[in-house]
Amino acid sequence: MRRKAATLQVRRVGAYRHLTCTNPGPSPRPGQFYMLATVERWGGGEAERPFLPRAFSYLRAEGDRLEFLWEDVGPGTRRLSELRRGEELWLLGPLGNGFERDRRPLLVGGGIGIVPLACWQDELGDVPALLGFRDALHAQAAGLMGGEVRLATDDGSAGHRGFVTELLAAGLDGDDDVTVFACGPPPMLETVRAICTERDVPAQLALEAGMACGFGACFGCVVPTREGYVRLCVDGPVLEAAALEGVR
Ligand SMILES: Cc1cc2nc3c(=O)[nH]c(=O)nc-3n(C[C@H](O)[C@H](O)[C@H](O)COP(=O)(O)OP(=O)(O)OC[C@H]3O[C@@H](n4cnc5c(N)ncnc54)[C@H](O)[C@@H]3O)c2cc1C
Ligand code: FES
Repeated sequence: MRRKAATLQVRRVGAYRHLTCTNPGPSPRPGQFYMLATVERWGGGEAERPFLPRAFSYLRAEGDRLEFLWEDVGPGTRRLSELRRGEELWLLGPLGNGFERDRRPLLVGGGIGIVPLACWQDELGDVPALLGFRDALHAQAAGLMGGEVRLATDDGSAGHRGFVTELLAAGLDGDDDVTVFACGPPPMLETVRAICTERDVPAQLALEAGMACGFGACFGCVVPTREGYVRLCVDGPVLEAAALEGVR
């Protein structure tokens, strides 16, 4: 059911925007997501964009508040970035399946992919996280996580110079009695999948696909698995790495 929420705050965190709003619905599980749209000026007007709601994992849920994080990359995220205190937005969710507890956790996030890992870390306690970002400005979002964080940036402006998957491979060489929980861009998730498969380390990957409805009706979000195609919005967005031949 689509519900109206009220904006409490939108602030900048490095290159990202961080929204706190009311939660008019049930409590979500880490890894679940919402379809978001503003009540005013969301298409149907002159330019018709963004028109469709956009999918967002939640960053944190505390009491009757929900938090989201995004980078302004297109019409939807731009309009959300303009939200002002008190302004209303539509929330459809919580949707999809989240992370499941398994062995000792190791979190691996790339860029905006840290979002579902933050609430998962809240639930698991101070578990370690390996986080990769483009540069130091984006890496400011690492401050939203707790626990022991190891950073990597593409340009070396914060932490290890290189990809977060290099930190993962080195870490697993020393200790592979873990379950990896990962979210990030497809090339990063594909490398995580390959590293974990090679070492027989279980991994749960929070994937992304273009989503028009978010609840299984449009088939816009199908991804291939070893068992055939699944709809990421209802069968995911978290899938076992072992179920996938690859991440694209
Ligand atoms: C389950 C799920 C959870 C998600 N959670 C989050 C989240 O927590 N935070 C978040 O920011 N996004 C998240 N996304 C992605 C988000 O839905 C898209 O970023 C959103 O569609 C952007 O909408 P837009 O209208 O601003 O841009 P669009 O019209 O969708 O895209 C505009 C242009 O930007 C490009 N683009 C889209 N996304 C990105 C990106 N991330 N980086 C660079 N270029 C991009 C597109 O290729 C296109 O060229 C999630 C997606 C899914 C499926
Ligand atoms: S987004 Fe419509 S079926 Fe998944």
